[in-house]
Amino acid sequence: MGVFEDSVGTFLSPVQAYLADESVSEVLINGPDEVFVERRGILEKTPAKFKDEQALQAAVRNIAQFVGRRIDDENPILDARLPDGSRVAAVMPPCSRKGTTLSIRKFSKGTPSFVDLINRGSISKEGARFLDVCIFLGKNIIISGGTGSGKTTLLNVLGSRIPGNQRLLIIEDSSELKISTDHVVFFETKHADAMGKGQITIRDLIRSALRLRPDRIVVGEVRGPEALDLITAMNTGHGGSMGTTHANTPYDGLVRLETLAMMGDTQVPIAAIRRQIAAAIHLVVQIKRLQDGSRKVTHITEVVPEVDDSGRYQVRDIFKFIQRGRTQEGKIVGEFVPTGILPSFMDEIELNRLPFGKEKFTPPAWYTQMAHPESQES
Ligand SMILES: Nc1ncnc2c1ncn2[C@@H]1O[C@H](COP(=O)(O)OP(=O)(O)OP(=O)(O)O)[C@@H](O)[C@H]1O
Ligand SMILES: [Mg+2]
Repeated sequence: MGVFEDSVGTFLSPVQAYLADESVSEVLINGPDEVFVERRGILEKTPAKFKDEQALQAAVRNIAQFVGRRIDDENPILDARLPDGSRVAAVMPPCSRKGTTLSIRKFSKGTPSFVDLINRGSISKEGARFLDVCIFLGKNIIISGGTGSGKTTLLNVLGSRIPGNQRLLIIEDSSELKISTDHVVFFETKHADAMGKGQITIRDLIRSALRLRPDRIVVGEVRGPEALDLITAMNTGHGGSMGTTHANTPYDGLVRLETLAMMGDTQVPIAAIRRQIAAAIHLVVQIKRLQDGSRKVTHITEVVPEVDDSGRYQVRDIFKFIQRGRTQEGKIVGEFVPTGILPSFMDEIELNRLPFGKEKFTPPAWYTQMAHPESQES
């Protein structure tokens, strides 16, 4: 863990062993007496304890100081990225009632590739190849998922598939994406100073980005009024743009963007925002952390470019994860299958001679025989 281990790690000596342990992905401290860790997606309680609340608070203050931030009674929340890429979030009393709460999401070494995701069972080979086709064709993609479901990791993988001859602008709250293509520029927001001045938001950065001749824009996490700017960019010639959002289904992902976009400009009527969203987003890729701790892409869903007569989005699942059982050890077993619905841009796939023919969308016989009660809202 490099710098973190040497400098910050000493403040956190009670949990040092977990920070150094490669199999631990996250360390969660709920006050001085309670430490959990996440291993392979599953939380477990550890015997680790801090001496007392003071010792824990001192550790958090030291981390804050180390990254040039403050955390104190007046400002009891810290959200920071350490030099090694680990992400730290802390809330101190009086806002945290059990004592100082701290989470450390360790930086995973190296970026996984599509092959890694396929090997981990997070997506099928054909699903990955279809996404590759969509990225090549410049489809606008939103990755939707819950907290810690693997959105950023997936965005890293998808972003790295963007053709190298395209200029890519990446905009993030705090830098965590590691997309490596031939032509990529990274922007990061800036906090206000102690006087409350000098804040640069994601919205500011999207607007500047548009003047910097981007081919595609990637927004790490869409969680505010910048949704409107991203949608506008997608609708005005920046095809192939991407972002992530917090939602549990593809349909809800669109609704979430709508809510965020409304925060940005309440002058625009909701019906117009919906039309813009339907036109802007071509695909929603849903990712979930399943009960067994695994992370899986559960849907690749196409968004019909027009809302229906009652103003609702029309979504069609092209690929879907279907759980078929569980092993004795509790591992979820299932398959990621095409649903039989052809994407509306099948002709584009054929025109560009991409090796992904119609037959790839034929579902297995067992799927066809299943009842499919829910299709509209995934
Ligand atoms: N496909 C995967 N298989 C196994 N583990 C994964 C997978 N994708 C991500 N992870 C692990 O899950 C954790 C969360 O991943 P990530 O940061 O990508 O999620 P996120 O949805 O962006 O989280 P947040 O909501 O906090 O932004 C990390 O520890 C990461 O290494
Ligand atoms: Mg994320």
